[in-house]
Amino acid sequence: MRILGIETSCDETGVAIYDAKKGLLADVLYSQVALHAEYGGVVPELASRDHVRKIIPLIHEVMDKAGLESKDISGVAYTAGPGLVGALMVGAAVGRSIGYAWGVPTIGVHHMEGHLLAPMLEPNPPKFPFVALLVSGGHTLLVKVTAFGRYEILGESVDDAVGEAFDKTAKILGLGYPGGAALAALAEKGDPKRFHFPRPMIDRPGLDFSFSGLKTFAANTIAAHDNTLQTKADIARAFQDAVVDTLMIKCKRALQATSYHTLVVAGGVGANLALRAKLQTLDAKVYFPRQAFCTDNGAMIAYVGCQRLLAGERSDLAIKVYPRWSLADL
Ligand code: KG4
Ligand code: ZN
Repeated sequence: MRILGIETSCDETGVAIYDAKKGLLADVLYSQVALHAEYGGVVPELASRDHVRKIIPLIHEVMDKAGLESKDISGVAYTAGPGLVGALMVGAAVGRSIGYAWGVPTIGVHHMEGHLLAPMLEPNPPKFPFVALLVSGGHTLLVKVTAFGRYEILGESVDDAVGEAFDKTAKILGLGYPGGAALAALAEKGDPKRFHFPRPMIDRPGLDFSFSGLKTFAANTIAAHDNTLQTKADIARAFQDAVVDTLMIKCKRALQATSYHTLVVAGGVGANLALRAKLQTLDAKVYFPRQAFCTDNGAMIAYVGCQRLLAGERSDLAIKVYPRWSLADL
């Protein structure tokens, strides 16, 4: 089985081809970051229009890269949610229509299931069961994963997602949008001893998170000090250390609560090197996708679509998207 996967839930158009036997054959990505940067955030209508412009050329490109023709594809997968409704509609409409035209089955995939299983694309994939920490721009989740498709949410953010907290704090520091990676780079130059940020919700039992207070703490700290690059770097460092520590503590708790010894980390913030280094000190096997597959991509959607189509699942002819869709409903 050879699946064409399409991702258009937010500001990246990703297309990939996954082969059930040979693995990932090709993947291409177009990022809209530059388009949205001048607005300081994703503009949904612009995102939809840009997906429309890019998706067909990217499908041609990925097919050429893999050296395949339409007859070689046995199914199509697209992100059906959660995400921006207009952006999702582009991938769903194109994916569903190609499936119909080529006479192959089609499946709508949950974006966060894509992130969660992205480490399966790596040479040494994790084995079930495991705990997954999903840290993206829109979600912060700790998930108990017993098998493919069996997900129990152990904890989630009660306010901002981690990536959102990174982006908002980066904005306060004048680092542009999305500023997560820029903040991480600046934190490298920061003095870890100058400021100490709180570790939110660690003294409460349970596995939920709260990150919105950290950006306020950053704003107050910057208001009370000078505006030099060094101060900004010190604040970035204190912010990142607080986030990394908090995630580390909750992952440790989740592993203890489940008695599992495997942790999977995925989603955009999973690209953060400080987080990767810290979590690797846990007494557990820790798996990450390669950095390019931490952020949005078509490969993870092609992978999940392949597993679900192999299991006999199919979407019907209606073009449906689910902008709000909990992983718990799968
Ligand atoms: O998974 P993703 O590409 O999109 C969503 O599904 O949301 O995640 C994007 C998020 C953004 O908030 C971005 O700032 C953050 O991941 N991010 C990072 C890093 N690279 C991307 N945050 C911290 N450190 C990084 N190196
Ligand atoms: Zn994502």
